[in-house]
Amino acid sequence: MGPAFLRFLLAAVLVLVSASAQTPGSGPGENNAARSGRPTEPATPGIPVRDDVTKKACGSCHQADKEGNLTRISWIRTTPEGWQEAIKRMVRLNGLTLKPEDARHIVQYLSTENGLAPEEAAPVAWFLQKRTLQAETEIPSEELKRACASCHPYAQPNSWRRSGEEWKLLTDMHVGYFPVAEFTAFRNGGRGGGGGGGAAAPGAPPQRHPVDLAVEHFTKNAPLHTPEWAKWKASMRPARLAGRWILWGDQPGKGRVLGEVTIAEGASANEFTTKISYTEMQTGRKFQRTGKANLYTGYAWRGRSDSNGTSLEDPKAMREVMSVSRDQSTIEGRWFWGGYEELGINAKLVRANEGPQVLGLDTYSLASGASKQVKIYGERLSVAGLKPTDISMGNGVTVTKIVSATPSLVTAEVAVAKDAISGPRDVEVNRAVATSAVYIYDKVDYIKVSADSAIARLGGNTHPKGYVQFEAIAYHRGLDGKKDTPDDIALGPVQAKWTVEEFLARFDDDDKDHVGSINVETGFFTPSSEGPNPKRKWGTDNFGDVWVVATFNPPGGDPAKPLTARSYLIVTVPLYMRWDQPEVAN
Ligand code: HEC
Ligand code: HEC
Repeated sequence: MGPAFLRFLLAAVLVLVSASAQTPGSGPGENNAARSGRPTEPATPGIPVRDDVTKKACGSCHQADKEGNLTRISWIRTTPEGWQEAIKRMVRLNGLTLKPEDARHIVQYLSTENGLAPEEAAPVAWFLQKRTLQAETEIPSEELKRACASCHPYAQPNSWRRSGEEWKLLTDMHVGYFPVAEFTAFRNGGRGGGGGGGAAAPGAPPQRHPVDLAVEHFTKNAPLHTPEWAKWKASMRPARLAGRWILWGDQPGKGRVLGEVTIAEGASANEFTTKISYTEMQTGRKFQRTGKANLYTGYAWRGRSDSNGTSLEDPKAMREVMSVSRDQSTIEGRWFWGGYEELGINAKLVRANEGPQVLGLDTYSLASGASKQVKIYGERLSVAGLKPTDISMGNGVTVTKIVSATPSLVTAEVAVAKDAISGPRDVEVNRAVATSAVYIYDKVDYIKVSADSAIARLGGNTHPKGYVQFEAIAYHRGLDGKKDTPDDIALGPVQAKWTVEEFLARFDDDDKDHVGSINVETGFFTPSSEGPNPKRKWGTDNFGDVWVVATFNPPGGDPAKPLTARSYLIVTVPLYMRWDQPEVAN
């Protein structure tokens, strides 16, 4: 970092402090409008801070006005992770000192008073749950993509709500800390691009800078006050989560997991402890864990659990990012672990109740024209001598025989008619229903590899390896009879064979011999170690890019013509810089 950069940084931070440290009584809108000469907009009413710990810790720099609004903070809403990130920067760069218990209290308070409604958090759930980077289809334009999704996912800004003034100050903060953003992302033709920006041809209408379009977009679409938040804040109630829950999960590469989670109340209203046990259904392996969790904003579950395990299958620590449903009957999200949170279980907790409950089947899909034995998992399924007619899976599917029945597991023979309509089916036992619990299909039309592109990271010496679990998902062409259209139906994961093939980027490419190896049966990719490899041409690192190829023979298909699909895998160096916020989970 050169001295010029540091001077720039200091100047920028001073500007920002003066934007925050204004005289009590003047809203930030008026203050900045006056400073910048922009027209005065009506000031957005803030969200007053009523909590003494927060006022004490933040109020010295973020002064209160007469309504109790703290500058900046009162015009911002975000997730627990967002608040944690901002507070960490206050400590790291702005000189705030804070006891850990006060930091936890403040994150809890601000997430409750200045949080996101469940509907607002849902689109960024994948980001909070550390799922593989998604193709973010919701980015409204190329300009916004360049401005705000080139360093972090678009989900980063999309997990905040702010007044217009605050969106503007946020971009100023970026320019202060990361001046390069001006050239690479924010402005057409860099800082020297002139008022309208860029090298627009004479006479052409002036182009607007991406950063200005971004501020305009978020001001309009991610404002401080929304009907969703007003509604949620009014109806937020204490989460009464103590009791027994059934875990119905999916572990990519392993299949279904079934288990139980006992939640007990912890030291305060928003703290819980957990006892977890579950079984991998394909292998019968059993796991036990104990954990604790914080609940934020009345629905945002952030937990962690521990076991004595030390393997990739049974890690010492797992984190949990889940969301409690409005009626508090389900808690859904992801449990994850690994050096890059790349391994995980898609977890759904269903509150155990008094009546019968259906969780789902051992199989994801049933072929039409076939008979098959299926396992139906649930609770109190066979209260009063179960008959085949007590079970329904919709038109064209007949339960022909109950092979065995216990309260938690019914094994039954089902016959699927040749002309049964393809698509999702609800499974009903004794009037308890699991929706879309199984798919009927006449033919597997194609497979896809999930994810269709992926990143693995070399490691094992000084950094953790970043693994990838690939899955082959079978698809049906859907009712329109055409492949790759929105009505196509995912039929669930299938057992494919896995290979790595060269992605030809240069003459003599040999990446596939160095980047790592894939398990031919499970699709689990293990990258090689980091650091120079003397055996490799030019002694380079083991990085490279390859195709990961899945090959699958669908039942009833021509064995000579298997279905194939592939994913583009980049194997790269370890990640040296992290912006994760694990503390919200304790
Ligand atoms: C020692 C002074 C100081 C204290 C104390 C302080 N802040 Fe800040 N805060 C700043 C400065 C300077 C900025 C502007 C630069 C930046 O965003 O890092 C800022 C900006 C912010 C922002 C806006 C960031 C954004 O995303 O646009 C938030 C949110 C914030 N502070 C929260 C807090 C909270 C919460 C506390 C109390 C736990 C706190 N601050 C305590 C100095 C302080
Ligand atoms: C040059 C890279 C870069 C670009 C471009 C960029 N960001 Fe960021 N952004 C970052 C980094 C790095 C952080 C983490 C800052 C920290 O905590 O110190 C961040 C943090 C954030 C945060 C969290 C705020 C906080 O207080 O921690 C938000 C919100 C955000 N960015 C929104 C945006 C928006 C909106 C845009 C587009 C106008 C954008 N970013 C463009 C690098 C970038």
